[in-house]
Amino acid sequence: MKNYSLYILLICIITSCNDLKNNTSVSQKDPGQQIIHSGFDDQISDLMAKMTLKEKIGQMNQYNGFWDATGPSPDKGKSAMKYEHIRNGYVGSMLNIKGGVKQVKAVQKIAVEETRLGIPLIIAFDVIHGFKTIAPIPLAESASWDMETIKKSAQNAAEEAAASGINWTFAPMIDTSRDARWGRVMEGGGEDPFLGSKIAIARVKGFQGEDLSTSNTIAACAKHFAGYGFAEAGREYNTVDVGTSTLNNIIFPPFKAAAEAGVKTFMNSFNELNGIPATGNKYLQREVLKGKWGFDGFVVSDWGSMMEMTAHGHAKDLKQAAEFSIKAGSDMDMESYVYVEHLADLVNEGTVDVSLVDDAVRRILKVKFELGLFEDPYRYCDEEREKAITGKKEFIDDALDMAKKSIVLLKNNNNLLPLKKENQKIALIGALANDKTSPLGNWSLAGEPGSAISVLEGLQQYKGNNLSYAKGADVVVPKSKAAWADEVVVNKTDTSGFVEAIALAKKSDVVVMVLGEHGMQSGEAKSRANIDLPGVQQELLEAVYKVNKNIVLVLTNGRPLAIPWADENIPSIVEAWQLGVQSGNAIAQVLYGDYNPSGKLPMTFPRSVGQVPIYYNHKNTGRPSAENVFWSHYSDEENTPLYPFGYGLSYTTFSYENLKIDTVSDREIKISVDLTNTGEVKGKEVAQLYIHDLFASVTRPVRELKGFELVELEPKETKTVHFTLSEKELGFYDNNEAYVIEPGEFNIYIGGDSGALLQDSFKLKKQSN
Ligand code: NOJ
Repeated sequence: MKNYSLYILLICIITSCNDLKNNTSVSQKDPGQQIIHSGFDDQISDLMAKMTLKEKIGQMNQYNGFWDATGPSPDKGKSAMKYEHIRNGYVGSMLNIKGGVKQVKAVQKIAVEETRLGIPLIIAFDVIHGFKTIAPIPLAESASWDMETIKKSAQNAAEEAAASGINWTFAPMIDTSRDARWGRVMEGGGEDPFLGSKIAIARVKGFQGEDLSTSNTIAACAKHFAGYGFAEAGREYNTVDVGTSTLNNIIFPPFKAAAEAGVKTFMNSFNELNGIPATGNKYLQREVLKGKWGFDGFVVSDWGSMMEMTAHGHAKDLKQAAEFSIKAGSDMDMESYVYVEHLADLVNEGTVDVSLVDDAVRRILKVKFELGLFEDPYRYCDEEREKAITGKKEFIDDALDMAKKSIVLLKNNNNLLPLKKENQKIALIGALANDKTSPLGNWSLAGEPGSAISVLEGLQQYKGNNLSYAKGADVVVPKSKAAWADEVVVNKTDTSGFVEAIALAKKSDVVVMVLGEHGMQSGEAKSRANIDLPGVQQELLEAVYKVNKNIVLVLTNGRPLAIPWADENIPSIVEAWQLGVQSGNAIAQVLYGDYNPSGKLPMTFPRSVGQVPIYYNHKNTGRPSAENVFWSHYSDEENTPLYPFGYGLSYTTFSYENLKIDTVSDREIKISVDLTNTGEVKGKEVAQLYIHDLFASVTRPVRELKGFELVELEPKETKTVHFTLSEKELGFYDNNEAYVIEPGEFNIYIGGDSGALLQDSFKLKKQSN
């Protein structure tokens, strides 16, 4: 191992101010407030001069939509009140208007044509992974490590949603999470802040495009700020208690990256953070987000999160919840009704300074102006365009491309995959193989149930083999197909289909088993205490294995699963997540080798749930190795994961050689490595660079991802891959929240996963003069 001394112009301490967005449009008034400047200052000021206090507060009020704005609504209790509030100018935004342009137009018309000032509504929707054309779940897309394709996926979703009247998506969800028990890991970019930041940028740029005022882009929303992914024990909505280091180095980076990429809105989160609910958390929203980072958009609360501050034991009543929320910097109230009911009183009695209301309204109006809504409030409401754009071929093709790139090959002993294309008897087993809804995943609000291509349909397109299907066992029985949030019932007892499946497996050459979680088993309020194959699927797998060992296990799931038995016994394992409308086609093309998989895991797969939270960028501890019995370990489980972060195989093989370190300038380290495709087929590899800062004032993780490149190589082709480490990658936030770069020794590792093989090191020194 070589040791390089780099005479870097070392700024030992760069204060956090240094890496803040250099945003001249925000000037600091006091820690709680900024004056926002934009190209629309004059129009906003003119408009605000005409607004009553109640109309201003109206802009800060967001209601859930009605299913049918032009007819009767199932939401009988509140819909009359909501209509009246829109008419009075007391509503600034609506979410979840279903029914496309026709319904959006009907609601927008009330706001624009029937209110005193005619301020348009901003229409929001959870466009999380596609709109009507459902794309792979975000965790799956993240496994592609392909930022251009992820960006394109968001861009298509924006275009399709915008054509349906939507102006604003509640995405990207960029909560770093290390806990596979938490159901919402399916919505995010995984466990790593570096990868998570790149994904955040790609998604924000995809949704918002270059010009927000064009009618095919929508405003994005970085959520959930902050800490939601660290819910204790992975239990939904649970307490979050994390230190400064984790907050600044692990949780914040994707949010900061989104702010720097120009995301227009943020959403706060349900959880409390270190004793203070995020919605009422001044430190998070005013000090960090709007203060240090200079964020000049607006913050929407999460659904009901203002009123939930009473249940948290923070606000004593709803009025105080409104007071805490506005003071903390929550600009818009989603479905808590506390601003519309209490904010005017709080201002009139002097508890809340009206300048806080003005600041929030200015931010909200600014985004409406930027969207072009004042110019033409119906610019997103063209029914002809909606027809032409919705579900168009290009979206479907792109959804297939994204789906294929999201698949991760976890194991492939004896090259069982790719499947031979002729003269094979193939048994396809598992309820999920014949499911056309589960692949749509949890956030498919606008999607059509049953609109996904199933694995059965995908495989049926390959005619050279003899394909037969047996369900084996149900995974879950959804109570209602329509209600996305319904609890699903897991089949824990019914094994009546085993006999047929076993008989089929017995007479087949290869068995493809599609097992895992139903799409509705992950997502919001879908935490699991066990992360194995749900229900009787493990039993089914073992029963089939007894009669035929040639099994290809296709996993569909919204989180890492603990599958140690499968890893030990099943020759080929393919991670296929929930891949959206083109799921079955993508899986079939990978199984038959028409597409060579290149996905890499964005989250560690544990051996057992007891290891969770398990993540690659952990600390070393004082007793990392087994010198005697008193070391950091489990007595009944390995420390290592089943599959590490960054891991994934291909139908070809790659070798890494000639790791070289060069210094080209004072503040940069340039590194290169030769990557060769050593196999027989063309393939793509994600070359990954990790560092380890060996000694620091605040201990550093044993590995930190600091660079990656997706490289395509013909058989036997070699390419030199280049990486650059700069100040941004070498430092960290210390416990005073200052960004520091400390002199000392760093290891670097390069390879195809976080256990990366090639290693070298360099020293960072203070400049000598
Ligand atoms: C609650 C979820 O936490 C949030 O992510 C979502 O955007 C809102 N509901 C609106 O549907």
